[in-house]
Amino acid sequence: MRADLGELRRTAARRLADAGVASPDFDADELLAHVLGTTRPGLVLAEPPTPLQLQRYDELVTRRAAREPLQHLTGTAAFRHVELAVGPGVFVPRPETELLAGWGVERAAEVQGRAPVVVDLCTGSGAIALAVATELPTADVHAVELGEPAHEWAARNLAGTGVDLRHGDMEDAFRDLDGGVDVVLCNPPYIPLDAFESVEPEARDHDPDLALFSGDDGLVAMRVVETVAARLLRPGGVVGVEHADVQGESAPAVFSTAGRWSDVRDHRDLAGRSRYLTARLAR
Ligand SMILES: C[S@@+](CC[C@H](N)C(=O)[O-])C[C@H]1O[C@@H](n2cnc3c(N)ncnc32)[C@H](O)[C@@H]1O
Repeated sequence: MRADLGELRRTAARRLADAGVASPDFDADELLAHVLGTTRPGLVLAEPPTPLQLQRYDELVTRRAAREPLQHLTGTAAFRHVELAVGPGVFVPRPETELLAGWGVERAAEVQGRAPVVVDLCTGSGAIALAVATELPTADVHAVELGEPAHEWAARNLAGTGVDLRHGDMEDAFRDLDGGVDVVLCNPPYIPLDAFESVEPEARDHDPDLALFSGDDGLVAMRVVETVAARLLRPGGVVGVEHADVQGESAPAVFSTAGRWSDVRDHRDLAGRSRYLTARLAR
């Protein structure tokens, strides 16, 4: 990196670290690249910033130090092979959800002789649906979102992709698909209401409450997903649902105690944290 840019981003990274930002170096570089109209690797060859760009960078670093999400400041979030437009009113897609989306792509790709039917419940920005539609263009992908602003972001991200996006409650969604779906995917809200204080400011103050909280035990939406997935799936179809790392037993139990699922499994991420469950509707 150029010497003058190096000093600029080191100062910014120190401000972000002092404010408690988890990845200060990465965020300082991302914001600098955003302001200079380049990428992080492109910073090596970037022209010196203009006074206006310096002012813009200072403003963005100040907002990030106040714990506005990085993705709200740049306006985009990377998710697997796609970029989503994000901002106020929609949940920022997280890297951990890429695992669930990848599992869904693999299961859908196993469907032989016809287009796999995939449903993304609680689509938010449309991240999972867009990843599946992009990686498996033959798939017939459907998505639903209840929040009005989030639905508008999803409509923007899914425009022209062929994904069937609906606005409404997952509980009543896709009656026309009952019994005909191969793969149901969902990253539902799963934080217990009383855990409000423990949530990082980026999420607590900027992700919609509807995207985060789910009753006293954090599993209210999970129970709805269990019922809806049982209604939508073909016999032998599969469901994958993300949950909190502390729900590695309680979330799969919602499915194993319902009496209509086989192969109920929990999956961990590379750091060994429990991340999502999968199950197959009994034939
Ligand atoms: C944790 S966010 C996940 C968003 C997206 N799938 C992702 O992984 O980035 C949960 C989403 O579910 C939506 N939601 C909550 N309850 C819902 C319901 N009953 N029906 C449909 N969507 C719901 C929220 O508005 C939010 O966008």
